[in-house]
Amino acid sequence: MMKDFVNLDPFSGEQLQDLIDRAIADKALFRQGKLQPTLERKTLAMIFEKPSLRTRVSFETAMTHLGGHAIYMTQGDIGLGKRESAEDTAAVLGRMCDAIMARTFSHEMVERLAAASPTPVINALTDYSHPCQAMADLMTAQEHFGPLQGRTLVFVGDGNNVARSLAQGCAALGMRFILAAPEGYELEQAFVDSLPGGCYSLVREPARAVKDADVLYTDTWVSMGQEKEGQKRKSDLSAFQINAELLRAAPSHAVVMHCLPAYKGCEITAEAFDAHAETIFAEAENRLHFQRTLLNVLIAEGGIR
Ligand code: CP
Ligand code: NVA
Repeated sequence: MMKDFVNLDPFSGEQLQDLIDRAIADKALFRQGKLQPTLERKTLAMIFEKPSLRTRVSFETAMTHLGGHAIYMTQGDIGLGKRESAEDTAAVLGRMCDAIMARTFSHEMVERLAAASPTPVINALTDYSHPCQAMADLMTAQEHFGPLQGRTLVFVGDGNNVARSLAQGCAALGMRFILAAPEGYELEQAFVDSLPGGCYSLVREPARAVKDADVLYTDTWVSMGQEKEGQKRKSDLSAFQINAELLRAAPSHAVVMHCLPAYKGCEITAEAFDAHAETIFAEAENRLHFQRTLLNVLIAEGGIR
């Protein structure tokens, strides 16, 4: 039984596939008004060191749908690692609440919370990874294409937290993950070496990278916490934009995905965004559906088996 959801790599392809299949089934039940409120009187503690729209609203709404409750806390409220150590915070929250969700700068902070908490800990984005996002994205891709094995996802731009989780998810599900990034923005070699052989490649020219793409994915060039390097990042990544020209180099069936928030005119043009808005907002909605299933599995069922 896996208590926590901190990264995707501890899970097998079967475990991740099962979570996606269950999330799709639960979404249908929810829409029919038949999803059971399995988390009555349960509480999710939510810690945010960074801003959020989708993550906060989707977790909070998911708890409401399941009959439970979520508590929103910022760094200013609790002073994680300053007013109190990660270990003491986790020990207290773990005694009062039924799960902890944390969005932090350092990935180590979430790992320390998970190690110290008797209850499940969910990574809601760190500088290193964003596993809930990747799972909602892969769920959306499966709804669109059917079985994902053999499909190709091309991530265009900065090899960041979202790219890392997508690479791990694609690897587990038998997909190809191609990163189109300039020098200095690729994923670190130790991470690449940790992926199963053959599923990952780095292609420097975006047009060549997308030629067999089923999914073209992008994210901001300036992640939360990188604001000071914003100008340099925008100039270094300027040739890695999803736009009409890049879409012409991709197969006509390919869809565009974006985790949001989007900076139109930077990593994606407004035109490319609008043409694929249906898929992009379906991904955002699926944050709710995937995480509701995840909360149910971790809290009501005691973990991922
Ligand atoms: N995609 C995502 O995590 O959005 P928020 O930062 O708004 O939560
Ligand atoms: N890479 C982005 C994702 C936002 C959801 C960030 O970390 O800011």
